[in-house]
Amino acid sequence: MDAVTQAMADLFVRRADPYTPARTLREAGPVHRTPIGLHLITRYADCATVLQGNDWSHADEAGQLHPSVDPERAAEEMPTSFLWMDPPDHTRLRGLVSKAFTPRTVAELRPRIEALVTELVDRALAAGEFDLVELIAYPLPLTIVCELIGVPAADHKAVQTWSQDLARGFDPDVLMTPETHEARSTAAREFMRYFRALIDARRAEPRDDLLSALAAVEDRGDVLTETELLTTCVTTLVAGHETTVNLVANGLLALMRNADQWELLRAHPEYVPSAVNELLRFDPPVQMTTRSAKKPMTVAGHDFAEGDGVVVLVNSGNRDPEVFPDPDRLDVTRYHDRRDPAARHLAFSLGIHYCLGAPLALLEMEVLLAELVRRVTVMEPLTDEPQYKANLIVRGLSALPVRFA
Ligand code: HEM
Repeated sequence: MDAVTQAMADLFVRRADPYTPARTLREAGPVHRTPIGLHLITRYADCATVLQGNDWSHADEAGQLHPSVDPERAAEEMPTSFLWMDPPDHTRLRGLVSKAFTPRTVAELRPRIEALVTELVDRALAAGEFDLVELIAYPLPLTIVCELIGVPAADHKAVQTWSQDLARGFDPDVLMTPETHEARSTAAREFMRYFRALIDARRAEPRDDLLSALAAVEDRGDVLTETELLTTCVTTLVAGHETTVNLVANGLLALMRNADQWELLRAHPEYVPSAVNELLRFDPPVQMTTRSAKKPMTVAGHDFAEGDGVVVLVNSGNRDPEVFPDPDRLDVTRYHDRRDPAARHLAFSLGIHYCLGAPLALLEMEVLLAELVRRVTVMEPLTDEPQYKANLIVRGLSALPVRFA
């Protein structure tokens, strides 16, 4: 097997280190065609061009990723959310949702996030040795996004399970078993059933939550339909915690493996906001995203035909030495200098689909990290080889046994 084919296999199958195969691919060239016909984009500048380009669709590549899924059946189970739409539909829906999910909504969550973080760190320190994924990484974003939307505490566990099954379902079909497909379908049906009932309840009796706000949102006479409301709730719930879980777990593991950076942060808590962005660059929770060409065009010297699908390798772009000096080094000060910050990482994407929840994810991680550097002196993994979930795209640890003191 030649080096590029081997690197592609490693990138798609091995989870612990996608960065070594990503480097091999990036150094070998800007575009590589995969056996399933998608093209991998490896360099930062080309990733940015695709994400910001008007001629790349986020609505049409599903068929290439999920050839075994019947589109009609999939649409019945879970209609498409605006994440997988192009303008003008995307513009309209994102505009409506942004009216309910504002920077103020996020800022108002700070006291609740701080209280929850204190509670979780208390529990962790009392336990001493524990699974960081179970005790901190899941409960923090899951609780916050559920409370934000208005999902009652008794249902958090159920929505967590459905979310995991849906997030796994983003991966290309070739990497999934019939069982994981089935689990994805079941989760989609259960989610829709669940939110239908919750929406009815909020319409009858609105509360101070995002669901009630979304149900009431209106822009020049335009409102969200029942289906749009449903898919928006599911997208916000899944995107709002499956990703942040990985930021917390992958990010803290990176700090444990780079003890000098952890000590630097403890000595300089003012680096926390920079550290959060650096952790997102260094080990992004969403490792890649896809687009398809709306018309024939040339990117990175490669001619794409209309309909050609590409995989924007966030994990590779974020380690491109043309843009990030010494890219494999974790440097918590990289984003600190506001007059001369490092280039924007790709972890939240770029362009029209730029993550709507980025301010919330940043806030959660900043509050957590600030609390940890203040109260935890010893933070170490209890294994050299923590296990990863099977997920390729939304990649993260399934468990991380650690010791805190
Ligand atoms: C560390 C945490 C997070 C990461 C790494 C992340 C990453 C991303 C990425 C990469 C995209 C764009 C995908 C693409 O271009 O194909 C995206 C979109 C989105 N994210 Fe996040 N996300 C995070 C947290 C959140 C949170 C907390 C929420 C909401 C509570 C959220 C809601 C959304 C929504 C609604 C979209 C769709 C935006 C659009 O299509 O216009 N995300 N996110």
